[in-house]
Amino acid sequence: MRLPIHLLLAFFIQQCACALQPAKRFYATHDYYVLEHHPSAGATLNECIGELGVELVEQVGELQNIWLVRSAKLISSVSPRTVSDRVLGRFEDLVALAAHSTSLYPRAGRQARAHRISSSIKHLSPQIPRQRIKRDDSFLERAPPPVTPGDPQLKASEVVAERLGFVDPLFTQQWHIVNDEYPEHMMNVTGVWEMGITGEGIITTLVDDGLDYKSRDLADNFDAENSYDFNDHTDLPTPVLSDDHHGTRCAGQVAAVKNDACGVGLAYKSKVAGVRILSGPITDVDEAAALNYGFHNVSIFSCSWGPPDDGRSMEAPGYIIEKAFVNGIQNGREGKGSIFVFASGNGAAQGDQCNFDGYTNSIYSVTVSAVDFKGLHPYYSEPCSANMVVAYSSGSGQHIVTTDIDNQCSSGHGGTSAAAPNAAGVFALVLQIRPDLTWRDIQHLCVKTAQMINPEDPDWETMASGRMYSYKYGFGKLDAYAYIQAAQDWQLVKPQARFHPPAVQINNGTLLTENGDMEGGQPIISGGVMSSFTVTQDMLDTHNFEGLEHVTVRVWISHTKRGDVEVELTSPGGVRSVLAAKRDHDYDESGFKGWRFMSVKHWGENAVGTWTLKVSDQSSKGHNGTFHGWRLMFWGSTVDPTVSTTYVLPLLEYQLPSTPNDDAINIPTSTSSKSHPKPTSGLPDDHGTAEGEASKPAFPSPSVPATVTMTPTPDEGWFSDMSNLVSSQKWFFGAIGAVALFGVGAGVFLWRRHVKHRAYAALSAGDELQMSSVSGQGRPRAKELYDAFGEVSDDEDADEETRLHGAGFHSGFLDDDDPSSAGPAPVYRDEPRGEHDASSDVRSASPGSGSGSGSWEHASQTH
Ligand SMILES: *[C@@H]1O[C@H](CO)[C@@H](O)[C@H](O)[C@H]1NC(C)=O
Ligand SMILES: *[C@@H]1O[C@H](CO)[C@@H](O)[C@H](O)[C@H]1NC(C)=O
Ligand SMILES: *[C@@H]1O[C@H](CO)[C@@H](O)[C@H](O)[C@H]1NC(C)=O
Ligand SMILES: *[C@@H]1O[C@H](CO)[C@@H](O)[C@H](O)[C@H]1NC(C)=O
Repeated sequence: MRLPIHLLLAFFIQQCACALQPAKRFYATHDYYVLEHHPSAGATLNECIGELGVELVEQVGELQNIWLVRSAKLISSVSPRTVSDRVLGRFEDLVALAAHSTSLYPRAGRQARAHRISSSIKHLSPQIPRQRIKRDDSFLERAPPPVTPGDPQLKASEVVAERLGFVDPLFTQQWHIVNDEYPEHMMNVTGVWEMGITGEGIITTLVDDGLDYKSRDLADNFDAENSYDFNDHTDLPTPVLSDDHHGTRCAGQVAAVKNDACGVGLAYKSKVAGVRILSGPITDVDEAAALNYGFHNVSIFSCSWGPPDDGRSMEAPGYIIEKAFVNGIQNGREGKGSIFVFASGNGAAQGDQCNFDGYTNSIYSVTVSAVDFKGLHPYYSEPCSANMVVAYSSGSGQHIVTTDIDNQCSSGHGGTSAAAPNAAGVFALVLQIRPDLTWRDIQHLCVKTAQMINPEDPDWETMASGRMYSYKYGFGKLDAYAYIQAAQDWQLVKPQARFHPPAVQINNGTLLTENGDMEGGQPIISGGVMSSFTVTQDMLDTHNFEGLEHVTVRVWISHTKRGDVEVELTSPGGVRSVLAAKRDHDYDESGFKGWRFMSVKHWGENAVGTWTLKVSDQSSKGHNGTFHGWRLMFWGSTVDPTVSTTYVLPLLEYQLPSTPNDDAINIPTSTSSKSHPKPTSGLPDDHGTAEGEASKPAFPSPSVPATVTMTPTPDEGWFSDMSNLVSSQKWFFGAIGAVALFGVGAGVFLWRRHVKHRAYAALSAGDELQMSSVSGQGRPRAKELYDAFGEVSDDEDADEETRLHGAGFHSGFLDDDDPSSAGPAPVYRDEPRGEHDASSDVRSASPGSGSGSGSWEHASQTH
């Protein structure tokens, strides 16, 4: 057994309760790790870092108990991999030592100490800087000088400019503000301005590639205090690279000053801050800090980036980043919650869907798709059931006109990345008059006020509430005037409630810890496989739950071609959410290992009744798959706000079987960074000129209609008897009673009518769980370590229900070594751009170099 012998570093502890400005990173000389400390598990942070032989750098952004630590690289002949694994090795030793103590013999001495310290380290993972790719969108031309129209008659935009005193030379070209040709298609903001609402006092942060704060059109509205450059680790987000103009253009949409430069922003007296992350490699730690940067005073984080929009990637934020989202909605804006606005993505032409992007399908983000100058659906704009609204952007011959770097103006801006800031601008306006709106009120107001467009579009479907929903348009287009009107007397929603039944295992479907393989399950046959789960009023009452908002669904599906898989959820009210439609370019073979889908299409619906998930594929030759399990999660409003509990992000949600209450489970997910190109990276060159459409459903119904129509009725008598027996675990039995599985093949159907295969999947009881875990988020992950003791977090107040105790030792490494077949190999840089890291060999820090990490070992990104 290796023992920690190199405790040779001197530790200087910064006792900072506050989040200071991030320190510079020195990747050339140090390896960095993120450590989540569990203070009540017995060991102090000092003890933990002492034992690991690391030094403390700083708290990670605004995340309590999450620390960036580092260890000097050893100058030695040992291979880089060995050196970089030193810290992880120590933790591994600690965990192994602690595991040797058994409950029969009291732990003593070294073992007790090892147990105490390893239990106090909730999460530990290396931090590797990686390049977020930017697309060269230099085809976007700078604006020519404004052309004076020959039309002698004043246009609507000219009338508005005159009445409101705008002398901004491009104001009349900002059709998203006043659309002269299609007056029904604009953000409808001028009436709001006339009410004196201009976003005063509200700060929006553009998390992007910089912000030209010297620009004449932005300087007066720039908030330096809340700006930071995570690429170069300097205070100001200066655009440096030749294509660092995206953040500035987005900032102009929100808060370009009313003056004689370019146009105006939708909230032209609000402030904008810039947090620069897209212009060089950053780690998860920095991304997490960026998403909470200045979050006490900043209201809105506008994010126009995400995983590649190539129709084959499937990526979600890692644990630390997800933590930052949860921290943002819980503690940002003095507890009202940060407003995260995400662009839905530009990959629709490649068959991409925003439910394959863990940022846009997060319940914490307002996902914004694009609609064009004529109100049509631009062919790049991604549909999915997580889409909330659309806002105006490029297409049908027009682009967004806004500010650019170097005191220039842009008339070539577009894509969904230009739609998101238009939504952010509307939120900045409303928060001026209703700063008390929570992050969920903002979403409710979107649902309530979004305007239907193109009613003849077959993509619209009726929800249970009677409202219409479209995968392409969400609830409709965001209308600033309607939004602000409704907000004026809006009654705040009650705190969030959640109801997370355990996963439904299909034929003992399991995800194996050791290799990430999935076992059990039901082969997906022609016509699809269906499984149901019945929710009772009693379950909702137990969970203080009413007012359904988001529904998330995790699925465990193996398939030889991921893009063949289709997943749809049907509610008790008969509303169907397509969660995954086929993606022709997605040839990934690793399936869905607990991937999360999200739908807002059931907003306001009664959750009581039978929910059915249907998994089908294309029945293509040479490809097949198996449906292993799924898990429904309901998010809504509390019945009694006085007993609401704070959500604690579980370390791992990808297990199958799942545990009854994974709000408090203690296993980490992956944390390595992913590539975050701007959405413009998938944006076609003709995004502005191509004509949009309003006649095609986003996800055409399969040509062979489902042959399965029978739904099992749970045996009510049996069900209630069992419930009475073990009333504290009602949902277990609810699941057992309700889970029924049907497999009906179209081919089989020809031979035998109503052939069905039924099986009841037994759920193991909480104390007999086969612990299974894997980092199932699609991409290979770095090796990670975690507290292997399954100690339950008692941070804050996790749900009061059963907790998992003493789950026992499970192997400490999450080696997800599936080589990713998703997408073209992303290009990563080995070292941060900037002067401070001259002669580095960052690749030596790659912890996963044994497997699947090749993609980040080749620096080739150039600008
Ligand atoms: C747009 O704003 C005007 C007021 O400026 C208002 O009369 C109109 O109803 C708004 N449009 C919608 C769809 O609410
Ligand atoms: C945030 O706002 C408070 C008061 O509203 C102010 O005192 C503080 O300096 C602000 N902080 C930043 C970083 O802007
Ligand atoms: C599931 O596992 C249980 C216990 O091992 C076994 O009795 C049962 O037959 C299994 N069910 C299926 C469908 O394999
Ligand atoms: C799926 O295909 C593989 C080979 O392509 C085959 O071995 C396997 O039996 C098939 N599984 C099912 C359930 O058809």
